[in-house]
Amino acid sequence: MKRALISDIHGNLEALRAVLQDIKMLEVSEIYCLGDVVGYGPNPRECIDACMEFPVAILGNHDQAAIFDPDGFNPVALGAIYWTRGELEARRGNATENNRRWDFLGEMPRSRSEEGLLFVHGSPRDPTSEYVFPEDIYNRRKMDNLFERFDRYCFQGHTHIPGIFVDSQAFISPEECNYEYSLGEEKSMINVGSVGQPRDGDHRACYAVLTDDQVTFRRVDYDRDATIKKIYDIPELDNMLGDRLREGR
Ligand SMILES: [Fe+2]
Repeated sequence: MKRALISDIHGNLEALRAVLQDIKMLEVSEIYCLGDVVGYGPNPRECIDACMEFPVAILGNHDQAAIFDPDGFNPVALGAIYWTRGELEARRGNATENNRRWDFLGEMPRSRSEEGLLFVHGSPRDPTSEYVFPEDIYNRRKMDNLFERFDRYCFQGHTHIPGIFVDSQAFISPEECNYEYSLGEEKSMINVGSVGQPRDGDHRACYAVLTDDQVTFRRVDYDRDATIKKIYDIPELDNMLGDRLREGR
């Protein structure tokens, strides 16, 4: 079975469309979304509509913040969250459609388990909010604790930095494995990167394809200027949210 694992779309419709186009060419059987469909970007409604089609869509911290009380966000992120919430309110646009989107976000699961595989947004310990950064491999306690909480492989997003944590002590970036990695005996945590706001210095949209035990990272170019212009045109979205898409930071 061939699965596409996408995460952190963040309301970036141009990036999502480019990724879905790429997925189409690969004859993927299912698409799993690992959270943060909304937040930061200018097209939350359209991105939610696309994700409703997927068999699995996990709750991200920004999805949660859009419908519940946001906690622990910086002012730029918070401004985007309140704007996103406004876009999803029943009085904006079609009330029935917005209610459906609201219900969809409210019913997203925090994790999903399938024989040996765990899918989360953040980490196996705190599926919605905990970050696992590449430098965390030097934090033995944290990594050992996380690795005790899943059977074989855990797939996640949240940091927007793709790569593979192997056996709680090494981090391998997509470049280091030439975008292809065979999962072996060692337990591994795989970060699938971000579709709509990459932060690893590569501005292209990122996602992963899982075929049996093979992980392939895909990078897809998209019309960044269109997304950036939309962000500039919405006063509630800080311009830096557009600028960072240029750099992939
Ligand atoms: Fe995110």
